[in-house]
Amino acid sequence: NGARTYKIASIPGDGIGIEITEQAIKVLRTIEVLFNSFTFDIDTLDWSSKRYLEQGEYIPADGWQRLRKSDAILFGAVGSPAVPDDISLWNLILPLRKKVIHSGLLYQTPLTANQLTQYINLRPIRILPGLSAPLKNCADGDLDWIFVRENSEGEYSGQGGTTHDDTPNTIANEVAVFTSVGIERTMRFAFEVARGRPRKKLTMVTKSNAQRYGMVLWDKIFYEIAKEYPDVETDKMLVDAMTVRMVLKPKTLDTIVTTNLHGDILSDLAAALAGSIGVAASSSLDPTRQNPSLFEPIHGSAPDIAGQGIANPIGTFWSTAEMLRWLGEDAAADLLMTAIQTVTASGIKTRDLGGTNDLIEVTEAVIVELEKSF
Ligand code: NAI
Ligand code: MG
Repeated sequence: NGARTYKIASIPGDGIGIEITEQAIKVLRTIEVLFNSFTFDIDTLDWSSKRYLEQGEYIPADGWQRLRKSDAILFGAVGSPAVPDDISLWNLILPLRKKVIHSGLLYQTPLTANQLTQYINLRPIRILPGLSAPLKNCADGDLDWIFVRENSEGEYSGQGGTTHDDTPNTIANEVAVFTSVGIERTMRFAFEVARGRPRKKLTMVTKSNAQRYGMVLWDKIFYEIAKEYPDVETDKMLVDAMTVRMVLKPKTLDTIVTTNLHGDILSDLAAALAGSIGVAASSSLDPTRQNPSLFEPIHGSAPDIAGQGIANPIGTFWSTAEMLRWLGEDAAADLLMTAIQTVTASGIKTRDLGGTNDLIEVTEAVIVELEKSF
């Protein structure tokens, strides 16, 4: 038949990443049968801390070629108590987003060094129906945000080094790198996102009072690009004041654009304010579409609950919906988001949300809803 085939690279990774990705695949298989107009060709890759401990590497030599052949990447989580976190992060998830420099300075823009050019990290956050969020006086609709986080440079550029190691005089440099090209492409993407939402409102977060170079460049480029989007309302926040505003005046925010580090921290806070880190989704996007984009829950491998079958799969399902939308399957994405929200509204929830259901029960409830509302 004339069905489209989407090649999906699935990287379950470590800990609960393995359990939740398995559930996401069940959901994809259900959607494939219901729609009958596209199929998923899923390539499951065992890139994990287990593989690293046994074979000395997370990503095999032909890894990039395999990934580049895919239309999208579904990622679980990486991190194991048996491997230092900086090793696991810098050998698996960060290289997927950019080229890794192990030490020393690289006089080259991060732009030209990218592996998959996923320069945007997009994190939608809202309070799903049926979830109790920690903020008093915050109705469900009052917190509906989308974070556009710069994903390839800034404070996570990987440049720096140490000298006089293991002496009382050790020096460590962690260099934040900002390029006008990197900032500008992020701003343009953010303005487009803001323009596409009903409130057309974009807040930029920096720390340009204390950090005088990179952050000031951010501010400057923000106001330059803003001229091209007169229909988008703009405002600027310092990151410390932003944490206060998120908690006290959530309704005043809509689309938010931030640097890599600030976006990382603020979006975890946002997820907690929306009810749980277990429900939040994240996409690492190559807006040029020359490379596959990557979709993952924002949480980590949660070794404290791994293997117990109690992890919340909603963040992974929401990420899967984002993946379907990126692939152009809007109807399937909408159906999945509706199913997720019907399930949370009905009170079928894992323990992190104050419920009593396990991973499989939540997954089955979502599958039943998909079939019912198709
Ligand atoms: P974490 O997100 O794994 O866990 C934080 C807390 O939230 C834990 O108590 C955990 O049980 C809970 N939690 C997280 N996801 C949950 C879910 N789906 N359902 C129910 N409860 C959930 O963060 P943590 O503990 O700081 O890091 C654990 C490991 O994960 C570390 O090795 C870290 O480096 C790694 N990590 C990996 C990330 C990634 O792969 N993108 C992101 C964040 C952390
Ligand atoms: Mg994080």
